[in-house]
Amino acid sequence: MTAAEIYLKSKLDERQSSGIYRTLKSENELLDFCSNDYLGFARSAVLKNSIDQEIQNHPRSLNGSTGSRLLSGNLKYAEDLEKSIAAHHQYAAGLLFNSGYDANIGLLSSLAQRGDTIILDELIHASAIDGARLSYANRYSFKHNDIESLEAKLKLAKGNCYVVIESVYSMDGDTPPLLDILNITEKYGAHLIVDEAHAVGLYPKGLIADLGLQNRVFASLATFGKALGSHGAIVLGSDTLRQYLVNFARSFIYTTAASFHQLAAVKMAYQLLNGAEQEISTLKNNIKLFKEQISLESLYLLLNSDSPVQCIVLKSNNKARDMANILQNKGFDVRAILSPTVAAGTERVRICLHSFNTADEINKLATIINQFINV
Ligand SMILES: Cc1ncc(COP(=O)(O)O)c(C=O)c1O
Repeated sequence: MTAAEIYLKSKLDERQSSGIYRTLKSENELLDFCSNDYLGFARSAVLKNSIDQEIQNHPRSLNGSTGSRLLSGNLKYAEDLEKSIAAHHQYAAGLLFNSGYDANIGLLSSLAQRGDTIILDELIHASAIDGARLSYANRYSFKHNDIESLEAKLKLAKGNCYVVIESVYSMDGDTPPLLDILNITEKYGAHLIVDEAHAVGLYPKGLIADLGLQNRVFASLATFGKALGSHGAIVLGSDTLRQYLVNFARSFIYTTAASFHQLAAVKMAYQLLNGAEQEISTLKNNIKLFKEQISLESLYLLLNSDSPVQCIVLKSNNKARDMANILQNKGFDVRAILSPTVAAGTERVRICLHSFNTADEINKLATIINQFINV
């Protein structure tokens, strides 16, 4: 083994001995209480047919985009799609990225300059942390959803300041006090950026537009790989922001553009979302049902969330793994989220609810959870 391989092997051995070794698992036959396919769009035959139809309606479309958007890969179809998605979320403009990860990286690394400041909620998604790290700005994090902690960091800020939050947090499923955060951000002349990856779907336009706050938010991010059942993302904001990102966001500039197929899938997914009242209402009922079926003892360990993401915090990697194993053995696909992915002491089983989960499945899931907690 070379010196590099010896190093790699030692890091893997370390992971294995602390029980946090990651492996890839193929699809399974278990009941889905794990994926981000909140409204069942990824498995929707209706969506599949409408995407097929859209592709057939564009017989001259290419299999691949052939280049980056600034070279040969731009399509009028992509620009029209950006306009219609921006209008859907009630923003002036939008710019497509190949993933939410790329969008956060491109946005945060290009916006903030040396001497500027980025303040992130401590539970913000890794892609926002990585984007901030790639910038030359000063970085601070504030306690999750804590206005006093945010204000303390705002007092330290220099230059242009950006506060970055999620509207529905991916790991805890909770929603921040948006108005309070906006008010304090504005008081210090800072700019709010909201990642809406897990909110779009539960709120068709995203939570920001749902609350009518889009004019006070500097930029928002919607992703297509979760409730929209597809792949990719868009940064929403002013036309100036869009032009800036076209010029400076490296994860937009230096990558091959999405193919026509992918753009068609996103366009059709948004059309489906516009008529998805039934799926959204079933999803909300399923969230309510799950919370009603959880015993008082389990409720004690359940994080406060009205979103499809529901977490039972077991405070130990072993316990979280044990509960996940029991549920998987009984046919339910749920996953343990272990430290260091989440902070030590907050290890959990993360359950994602969907519009397609049946009442019977949810009742059984809750019963097994209650039995585990009561032992
Ligand atoms: C809050 C949040 N932002 C961004 C991303 C990245 O999005 P994508 O999966 O499209 O790269 C995720 C994905 O898990 C997320 O949860």
